[in-house]
Amino acid sequence: MSSEGYRLAVVGATGQVGTLMLALLRERAFPAQEIVPFASARSVGRELEGGLVVRGLSDESIQGFDLALFSAGGSTSGEWAPKFAATGAVVIDNSSRWRMQDDVPLVVSEVNPEALDSHHGIIANPNCSTMQMVVALKPLHDEAGIERLVISTYQAVSGTGKAAVDELLDQAHALLHQREIEPPSAYAHQIAFNALPHAGSFAPGEDHTDEERKLIDETRKILGDPAIRISATCVRVPVVNGHSEAVNVQTRRELSPERARELLAAAPGVTVLDDPDAALYPLAIDATGSDEVFVGRIRRDPGHERALDLWIVADNLRKGAATNAVQLAELLHERGLVRAQGAPSAA
Ligand SMILES: NC(=O)c1ccc[n+]([C@@H]2O[C@H](COP(=O)([O-])OP(=O)(O)OC[C@H]3O[C@@H](n4cnc5c(N)ncnc54)[C@H](OP(=O)(O)O)[C@@H]3O)[C@@H](O)[C@H]2O)c1
Repeated sequence: MSSEGYRLAVVGATGQVGTLMLALLRERAFPAQEIVPFASARSVGRELEGGLVVRGLSDESIQGFDLALFSAGGSTSGEWAPKFAATGAVVIDNSSRWRMQDDVPLVVSEVNPEALDSHHGIIANPNCSTMQMVVALKPLHDEAGIERLVISTYQAVSGTGKAAVDELLDQAHALLHQREIEPPSAYAHQIAFNALPHAGSFAPGEDHTDEERKLIDETRKILGDPAIRISATCVRVPVVNGHSEAVNVQTRRELSPERARELLAAAPGVTVLDDPDAALYPLAIDATGSDEVFVGRIRRDPGHERALDLWIVADNLRKGAATNAVQLAELLHERGLVRAQGAPSAA
């Protein structure tokens, strides 16, 4: 850290995303004069890597920050993000709490950075499945206009939080040793050696999970096109980290697989891995640890002359959360936007 630069708060600093955000701020040499980690009362006083000591959130402890990066869940964001914004800090929030509010920009650094210009103190980081998908869809949308998407996700347990990763590993260990598993708590059913068509949760009477609704609503908001028709099924699979997605993309204008491959190869933040003969396609275990979005299996949908099929994979904790949050902080810095312009109205 330098003697020049911003005062930054990282809220949820002990979690999976928070830990990565701290590491990325260091790695990418973000101009910070001071970084203060916040977490729940359970962690106050804990020393993190680099000697940072966790603080608790209070009206006094949140004063004097320029930026606050949140990854502590929706209720913490609901309560504390407006309070940080009211002090003059700009909040970048990883939870779903503010994403669909009209006066809160929902931003992916490679896709709609211009949306940052209209912020009112809180900026939302999209859901991880949406994030990686729109990075890959943006160049195709610009070229041919997306008319309809049919999405199936294969989502890693790290997307649910640390407790879910422990549950998968504990269950797998128990089952491999022919022992009974503990009753599941992160999910409704056993996740080890299984696939759950239930990523997120069902509100009473809802036939889609909130995760599926996020994919639909957030994609339209980020691409700025409410007319895109979207069908989504989100599935939790026993993968520790790295979300995979099979996406059928129907365009308004003709788009060949060759042209799509060309556009994707030139797109920022995208790496094309597409040589089926050599068994080369994106894999969750390879994407883990990378900030890129990987795309492969680019092919014509034999059932529709204006549709393509894609396989999109990324590290959900990095590009799906922490990396984009830090990239947004960098963009705010570059654009001279690290100043709140009045907190957004309460939803
Ligand atoms: N995991 C993903 O792929 C992903 C992707 C996009 C967005 N997100 C979002 O990012 C957030 C965190 O996810 P995660 O996977 O990092 O979860 P996690 O590993 O469970 O970490 C949660 C963090 O929030 C803190 N926290 C919990 N309650 C708090 C409170 N009342 N006040 C202050 N801090 C509190 C925890 O502190 P303690 O350690 O003290 O409990 C911990 O630092 C969630 O909103 C999630 O939806 C996650």
